[in-house]
Formats: sequence, structure tokens, C-alpha cells
Amino acid sequence: MDYMYFNNAGAGLMSKGTYETLTNHMKLEMNVGAYKAAAMKSDAVNNFYSLAAKLLNAGSKDEIAFIDSASRGWNLIIYGLDIKESDVIVTLSSEYGTNLLTIYDIVLTLHASYTKVLF
Ligand SMILES: Cc1ncc(COP(=O)(O)O)c(C=O)c1O
Repeated sequence: MDYMYFNNAGAGLMSKGTYETLTNHMKLEMNVGAYKAAAMKSDAVNNFYSLAAKLLNAGSKDEIAFIDSASRGWNLIIYGLDIKESDVIVTLSSEYGTNLLTIYDIVLTLHASYTKVLF
């Protein structure tokens, strides 16, 4: 590679291992169908939670949630919080747009406060 890649905000460069795992799975789906391929790989998928827990030094795999979208994950967490009118939500000025929309929604609906910290 003759340059440094820094555009990692949404998605960084895919590793060779990730590429091979994905393409091998697509080939498997092409040969046996998606449902059977998922069943054949269920051990690897289930193992993900234990490995992620170990990587993050979590207490158990039950502390790991995996979701297909950062925005959906953010929404699940923030809408699951018990935010009250007296609460103040503090973010950096660099907060991601989708996250801000959720915060504004909570501020409007629950009449909580919002403070942006310049960064
Ligand atoms: C900080 C941050 N949050 C959320 C997202 C949105 O991710 P997704 O498309 O997985 O919801 C992005 C996408 O670039 C991001 O950079």
C-alpha cells in the first residue's frame, strides 16, 4: 500500500481474514442456501459472544450485544435509559448526526436538557 488509510469513521479497510470469511460464507450460501449455511455455521456465530466477552474483558457473554447498525444500537441503549426531565444529556460538539436526532427527540418528549461541549 502506498498510502495511509484514515477514513475509518463508518468503515475501515476490510482485513484479508474478514474478506475470506465473508466470501467463503457467500460461496457456502450459494451452494446450500442461506438457512442451511447459517445452521452449518451456528457454532462459529454462537462462539462470537464468548470471544467478544473475552476480548472486552466482560463478566460473561450475556453482557455482549451485537447489532447490525451503530444507529440502531445507539437508539436501543438511549431509549432504554430511564431519562427524566431533570436530567442533562451532555455530548461533544462532534456528536454524530443520527445520535443528535435521538437526543433532540428525548429532549422534546421528556423535556430533559441538552448541553453540547465544544471539542
Ligand atoms: C460515529 C458514527 N455513528 C454512527 C454511524 C452510523 O452507522 P450505521 O450506518 O451503522 O447506523 C456512523 C457512520 O459513519 C458513525 O461514524
